[in-house]
Amino acid sequence: MTATDLTTSTATAAHIETTERYAAHNYHPLPVVLAEGDGAWVIDVDGRRFLDCLAGYSALNFGHSNERLVAVAREQLGRLTLTSRAFYNDQLGDFAEALCRLTGKDMILPMNSGAEAVETAIKVSRKWGYEVKGVPAGQASIVTMEGNFHGRTTTIVSFSDDEVATSGYAPFTSGFRRAAYGDIDAVAAAIDDTTVAVLFEPIQGEGGVVMPPEGFLRDLRALCTERNVLMVADEIQSGLARSGKTFACDHEDVVPDIYIMGKALGGGIYPVSAIAADHAIMDVITPGSHGSTFGGNPLAAAIGTEVVAMLEEGTFQARAVEIGALIEAGFRPLVGQGLLGVRVRGAWAGIDIDPALMTGRQMSERLMDRGILAKDTHGSTVRFAPPLVASDDDIAGLVTAVTEILAAG
Ligand SMILES: Cc1ncc(COP(=O)(O)O)c(C=O)c1O
Repeated sequence: MTATDLTTSTATAAHIETTERYAAHNYHPLPVVLAEGDGAWVIDVDGRRFLDCLAGYSALNFGHSNERLVAVAREQLGRLTLTSRAFYNDQLGDFAEALCRLTGKDMILPMNSGAEAVETAIKVSRKWGYEVKGVPAGQASIVTMEGNFHGRTTTIVSFSDDEVATSGYAPFTSGFRRAAYGDIDAVAAAIDDTTVAVLFEPIQGEGGVVMPPEGFLRDLRALCTERNVLMVADEIQSGLARSGKTFACDHEDVVPDIYIMGKALGGGIYPVSAIAADHAIMDVITPGSHGSTFGGNPLAAAIGTEVVAMLEEGTFQARAVEIGALIEAGFRPLVGQGLLGVRVRGAWAGIDIDPALMTGRQMSERLMDRGILAKDTHGSTVRFAPPLVASDDDIAGLVTAVTEILAAG
């Protein structure tokens, strides 16, 4: 069977049926059942090959089954996987040191999922607000951005403006205000004496790879410093080489007060997340004030240390830039030829399809039929985030597929 064979096989249908019957319907996956992955490519239960242009929402920046990461994980699996933080383990110290070196911060606080790391940043910011800044008890506020996506916990969806993500989940956590993304005056107006942090994505991934105007991050840095408010960058999706730099904030040479990291920190193998900050902030955390059974476990730490080592070599960041140049050159001419907009930063792209032509979902389905997996967002947008091990030919194939699908209408 080839990637262009549209027939749903018995095996595919059976897996989908069982999944839909027993797993809650909180996603609407494309009808493909994956069984293997290697580098930028995945194989389904019928042996069809697909170029993975979602890469686990950038958790797979280093590719599927990355040899170095799998070797480290296997080694650690055979030695020790979990201690809890009731005891020390022989991996966490080295991981924390490596991640501090990468971020330039004094300390990290390890967690598992991205949402937990965001929750951690919120808690640390509030505690810093009360204990260091002197905000009156119970009054801390955090400014967030319109169109944000920071995860799915009750507190995090409390400041989401996505109807689907919030509907039915009230009552929400108070203490958040939204400002228009990329509008420094709106952010300034939202800050008052109770404000402890501005929480933002340097690039809004789920929003459709949306970038703030040039200079916004620098202005935000200056504003946060001036108003004694923590600048909290959610680099869970934008960080760790995806945008062509280690962190998306690096594009404007900006260093936030707190980095939030996840996804690729676990190499697509295991959930690993963390926040990083200096002592002046992180020292508000004391024994018992926050924690997680799995956070900082030796398996996570071993994988995370190797991820940092790979990032320190700089090759993935450089490859993201090369991939980005190919995507830009291929997609830009399509504006006016079926695309209303194209946004590219490193190996990360969002395309806005003319809704008169097709939806983002339809584009994703047609790409799937041509052996390419991608994900739509917000109706007519599709984002592409291939693993950073994708070849030039892989990217050429992506550009050809999008071009031909648009031409066919
Ligand atoms: C910017 C950002 N923050 C937080 C999250 C939540 O991460 P997780 O799904 O691991 O909880 C995501 C997930 O897509 C994200 O893109």
